[in-house]
Amino acid sequence: MDKLVVHGGSPLDGPLTVGGSKNTALPLMAATLLAEGTSRITNVPDLRDVRTFSNVIRVAGPAVTFDAGTHTLTLDAATVNHPVAPYELVKKMRASFYMLGALMGRCGEAKVSLPGGCAWGPRPVDLHIKGMEAFGAEIELEEGYVQASAPGGRLDGGSFRLEPSSVGATINLLLGAVRARGGSRIENAAREPDVVRFGEALRDMGAQIDGLGTDTIEIQGVDRLEPTSFRNTPDRIELGTYMLMAATAAEPGRPVEIREGTHEHLGQDFKDCFAETGVDVEYTPETVTVTRPEHLRPVSIETAPYPGFPTDLQAQWTVLLALADGTATVTDTIYDDRFKHVPELQRLGIDISVEGNTATVEGGNPIKGAQVMSTDLRAGVSLVMAGMIADGTTHVLRVYHLDRGYEDLEGKLRRAGIDIHREEYEEFEEPARETVS
Ligand code: UD1
Repeated sequence: MDKLVVHGGSPLDGPLTVGGSKNTALPLMAATLLAEGTSRITNVPDLRDVRTFSNVIRVAGPAVTFDAGTHTLTLDAATVNHPVAPYELVKKMRASFYMLGALMGRCGEAKVSLPGGCAWGPRPVDLHIKGMEAFGAEIELEEGYVQASAPGGRLDGGSFRLEPSSVGATINLLLGAVRARGGSRIENAAREPDVVRFGEALRDMGAQIDGLGTDTIEIQGVDRLEPTSFRNTPDRIELGTYMLMAATAAEPGRPVEIREGTHEHLGQDFKDCFAETGVDVEYTPETVTVTRPEHLRPVSIETAPYPGFPTDLQAQWTVLLALADGTATVTDTIYDDRFKHVPELQRLGIDISVEGNTATVEGGNPIKGAQVMSTDLRAGVSLVMAGMIADGTTHVLRVYHLDRGYEDLEGKLRRAGIDIHREEYEEFEEPARETVS
């Protein structure tokens, strides 16, 4: 396995460049299944999740090629003849569940494995299933699989209210509805920029969709969608992560430039909270420049659906609070149990306690390097961030979580002044004990 070794203390100097969005690339890939022909997506990040989803799509019949050098993905969906997403692949990545909507939209039938557990506690897919039923699908759950079919080979369309609002369910229902016989309505729909860009791509393919970016999306089904070429958006979570790294690991007073991100996609709440910490931040259409202050103010945050504070940035915010002058809290209202990074950050000396869905961070404790383990993507990057500002050396184990969502993180950080490299290591497991009866 690989680990990242970070020698703390060398300042982040920039510039850093943001790649294409993982969470937008995946639904864009699913959208291409709806058109018979070859579609192209540019600015696709070279990530493990993109490769996993390419394999999921290949199982259904299409040919997928990825040119990592140009970040271009070519999907030939002339043939979709095996409408199945198997457990072996879906268990690796929950977003594979987008195959439910894509296959229902294209074939009117789908057999898609239920995703199973997640490191942050339960993440149900009940809304995806109930919504698809409301649009006319007949669904049975058999041996861990969702077996869905549309009578007559095509969904009717219908109306469904998401409670709570869900990014994944909005995407799945859009995929199902755009080729339905009739009209559909999604209430309390997700307004995340990832959903908006995905909906725009569907429109480019010929779909009729109104209300993108609002909480009510209306769709009029069409008979046919055309293959097309589209450009993926920059990764807003990668942008936010680099902003937080600049606020904590740069030399105070020395600006760090972050390039090619779209700051509007961060949501106003994150930007307001960030400014409140005392950092100086300048936004242009192409760049975000962050200057770290001598002292960071402790600012409490609460995650919420877009344009609220993104749950995918709360672990990184926790590390910022470790440097602030005072106490503040991080509350996750979307995932109650998303605090697996906390015991690892405690190993580095950070003073945090968790009660319910709130972590309280007492800033100012010395942070010292140690071995820590990443448990998921954003938890993993928060450990790298903490390693950058720790005294001594931090070994972040199980880097494969980071490889799911950050392309060449260590290369980008090294070029920006951070002392970081990747090493192979072996994880020893306790030999199973023989039971003596
Ligand atoms: C997406 C993102 C993930 C991000 C999350 C919230 C991708 C690939 N992943 O995940 O990085 O952290 O949005 O911004 O884009 N829920 C239900 N039933 C359902 C579906 C969801 O109760 O059927 C609940 C979830 O448990 C959660 C809330 O709805 O509390 C929002 O989850 P959702 O927006 O669906 O997250 P994902 O699409 O899985």
